[in-house]
Amino acid sequence: MVDFKKLCEKYDTPLYVYDFNKIEENFLSLKKAFKARKSIISYAIKANSNLSVLKKLASLGSGADCVSIGEIKRALIAGIPKYKIVFSGVGKRDEEIREALELDILFINLESEAEMDRVEEIAKSLDKKARISIRVNPDIDPKTHPYISTGLSENKFGVDIESAKKMYLRANKSSYLEPVGIHFHIGSQLTDIEPIKEASRIVADLTRALINIGIEIKFFDIGGGLGIVYKDEKTIKPYDYAQAIFSNLKGLDLTVVCEPGRYIVGNAGYFLTKVLYEKRTKNKRFIIVDGAMNDLLRPSLYKAYHKVEVLRNDEAKSKADVVGPVCESGDFLAKDAFLPKTKHNDIIVVYSAGAYGFVMSSNYNTRPRAAEIAVEDGKDRVIRDRESFEDLIALEKKYL
Ligand code: LLP
Repeated sequence: MVDFKKLCEKYDTPLYVYDFNKIEENFLSLKKAFKARKSIISYAIKANSNLSVLKKLASLGSGADCVSIGEIKRALIAGIPKYKIVFSGVGKRDEEIREALELDILFINLESEAEMDRVEEIAKSLDKKARISIRVNPDIDPKTHPYISTGLSENKFGVDIESAKKMYLRANKSSYLEPVGIHFHIGSQLTDIEPIKEASRIVADLTRALINIGIEIKFFDIGGGLGIVYKDEKTIKPYDYAQAIFSNLKGLDLTVVCEPGRYIVGNAGYFLTKVLYEKRTKNKRFIIVDGAMNDLLRPSLYKAYHKVEVLRNDEAKSKADVVGPVCESGDFLAKDAFLPKTKHNDIIVVYSAGAYGFVMSSNYNTRPRAAEIAVEDGKDRVIRDRESFEDLIALEKKYL
């Protein structure tokens, strides 16, 4: 159990806390689910890119799914081997492609024909053969929030089946491209297994057709997206997830690459904030805290639910909005939560904050970003310092 009060006294608030034992448990449960086949769990760094989190995952054998050269460098610094790193993303700069090729990572996921042209040209200039995979958009409704749904033809991601076929044929003839994989990712926070099953069936059929015409696909990259419990969602069990994929891969000798982000870190993270004061308007009760939308954006951006709890034993509870000090009406961490009457400096725990929490934070309103703490085997340690005011102005001050 994590002693939130002690951590707040020791490190102050707002604070991100990650339970490394839980991260390990989550990673290993997924690894186990996929063990019947050759597989690489390439953790999606975008969910939480703290170097210590990555180092922990590296020690467990994780790979990395990266969407920028910065993320690739983080992965390498943390000790994730280059042959387990994949590079995804709909818009890669020339310099990023060049560096990724020089660093010799496992493969680059391509999202358009124009991007394939760029990769081919850059590989040629380096006299290298670029290992590539093409992100196929299977046009499947993943039944999740529209902002995090990616596998529909109206989304900007990937290419349709017909275009993918043409791209593979062309890549196979190129002296500078080596098509080694196929990729899809239909969305995030998926709680329904059917769309995943259907997408993997469509992409597996395409893989078979490609192999039959001599294109040597070795990696079947199923993206990420496994949902977690924020409130009372019925989630997909890792074993069922893996089996749903495997059921479509009969007779194919492929390494399955899986890119989970949220599943690994989401429920292993907590955001801790302190109560400043309470305020009542004619028809609302507000608890004003020292954490805000710049620290945890998900409630404001997606109206995402995060469970909140006041660390106070009090039976009498009433509805309240938990809001931050930022000058926006959209600055809230919870709406209509049943919470006890709070006092100055009471601690509020915001649950399921390990994924897309700190990484989406900003300095809006000149607010320093929170510190990050790891708890492992009952011991706590800092893994990122709280930003200081000086940190915030460092890149501007010299121009005064
Ligand atoms: N692979 C690709 C290609 C992705 O685009 C993503 C997430 C993942 C893997 C990891 O997905 P996960 O397993 O974490 O669901 N900020 C949003 C989530 C954006 C997800 C973007 N892509 C949120 O806070 O819900």
